[in-house]
Amino acid sequence: MTYQNMTIIITGASSGIGKAVSLALIPYKPKLVIVARRSDKLRETAEELDKANIDFLPIIGDVRNAEDRNKIIDLTLQEFGQIDVLINNAGIGKANLIVEQPEEEIDELLETNVKALIMLTRKNHPYHEKGRRRTHYQYFFILCFASSLPFCCLFRNKSSSENL
Ligand SMILES: NC(=O)c1ccc[n+]([C@@H]2O[C@H](COP(=O)([O-])OP(=O)(O)OC[C@H]3O[C@@H](n4cnc5c(N)ncnc54)[C@H](OP(=O)(O)O)[C@@H]3O)[C@@H](O)[C@H]2O)c1
Repeated sequence: MTYQNMTIIITGASSGIGKAVSLALIPYKPKLVIVARRSDKLRETAEELDKANIDFLPIIGDVRNAEDRNKIIDLTLQEFGQIDVLINNAGIGKANLIVEQPEEEIDELLETNVKALIMLTRKNHPYHEKGRRRTHYQYFFILCFASSLPFCCLFRNKSSSENL
């Protein structure tokens, strides 16, 4: 499978894995839509893509926000006319013991790492299905649900069940 000229949305492209994947895609010459909240950090990814002559669209947005999710899909379609691949990478990690994790952190984890990617995928799906490259469309979920939940931090170590 080639990603040449495909339109690829990647969330969380301002740092870490999302930035690395964006840059790793350069040789395939895709049309890239890079998304994140921090404009200064996203600009750094954008500069690298620009240097490599990649056709890209930077979108400042929070995947937890429904309007921003709509903006991601709508602006991508406006700019490139289709969506071939959605890489749901934006996510956060807040390791904590289940008995200590503040409720706001649990909400933030679930909103970002679980709900946002489901909702963005749902928003995107009709365009994938109707797209002229329908046989090619792909979703990627870079985060793992287990790492998104406070429950993975139930135990500090094997013998710490007394911490519960
Ligand atoms: N690294 C690991 O060992 C590991 C292990 C398991 C799972 N993961 C998952 O892999 C993904 C990438 O991790 P990473 O290590 O590359 O983390 P990272 O360097 O912190 O990058 C996270 C990216 O997500 C973006 N982001 C976070 N919340 C967002 C929001 N509400 N809206 C839009 N963008 C948001 C951040 O950009 P802004 O802050 O600019 O918005 C950043 O670009 C995450 O989903 C993480 O949960 C990583």
